[in-house]
Amino acid sequence: MPDQTPATPRPSLTEIANRYGTDKGTVSPLPGWPAHNYTAVYEAHFEPLRDRPISILEIGLGVPGDHWEVRMAKGRNERGGASLRTWEEYFPSARIYGIDINPASHLDGGRIATFQANQGDAASLRAVLDRIPETHFDIIIDDGSHRPDHQQTTLGVCFPRLRPGAHYFIEDLLANGKGDRATGRMACDAVLSTRRLLRGWIETGEFETPHAIENAEELAPMIAEVALCVPKARRPPRGWRARIRRMFRDSPPQRASRGEQLAVIRKRET
Ligand SMILES: C[S@@+](CC[C@H](N)C(=O)[O-])C[C@H]1O[C@@H](n2cnc3c(N)ncnc32)[C@H](O)[C@@H]1O
Repeated sequence: MPDQTPATPRPSLTEIANRYGTDKGTVSPLPGWPAHNYTAVYEAHFEPLRDRPISILEIGLGVPGDHWEVRMAKGRNERGGASLRTWEEYFPSARIYGIDINPASHLDGGRIATFQANQGDAASLRAVLDRIPETHFDIIIDDGSHRPDHQQTTLGVCFPRLRPGAHYFIEDLLANGKGDRATGRMACDAVLSTRRLLRGWIETGEFETPHAIENAEELAPMIAEVALCVPKARRPPRGWRARIRRMFRDSPPQRASRGEQLAVIRKRET
């Protein structure tokens, strides 16, 4: 007789993310720090890849160190690396690569390998990519400094290393570029915000200047599609509405773009 015992359902990506304490899920990692609910979008893309022997690259690991203060490495995520641990559990056969400006070698082992590099420095990124045996990745996620010039430099260097037809994600798109009047460590006035740059690509198929993408003319036609998503966080903590209004202040002339937080960029098949 065939075995009638129902298989135990595996935890969802959101459940795993919430357990490790990354802010990509639906549970706030720390009091006053909102959860982004990106895992709802990620799971829609990742579920068909779950058991495949894929390779993942994430930039920005949430590890404490001297180069960047990381407040979220606390509690159940005390030594950082919550998102790499999430990918490791969700994808049982994947090889997982991480890059951070702070050292993260305590996460190395098994299917995880980490490297130290500054994502705002193309040469530093290339030197790391040269040490990774994969020629192409199935998933790339940028959750690093969130500075627009860094996001754009990283896109220029890493997007060509994405497998054809695969997806590249940029988290936390802010109104933090030229003309946005944003200040602080996540802002840069020398380039347009990445949100604005990608909106421009959606409208014209090209990247408006100023930006920090090397070889933009070669990169633009490699892109098949860009989606800008606003996943809603559940039960935002107190004070979050005022904070998000400041962070996502409209950047003229794109007044309708408030709240786009996650970019999903698909590479052409050929
Ligand atoms: C928001 S945390 C990443 C959180 C992590 N992905 C998670 O979900 O658990 C951002 C990380 O980006 C790193 N970072 C900041 N600036 C960077 C840079 N220029 N290059 C590479 N990593 C950087 C920080 O050290 C920090 O660990």
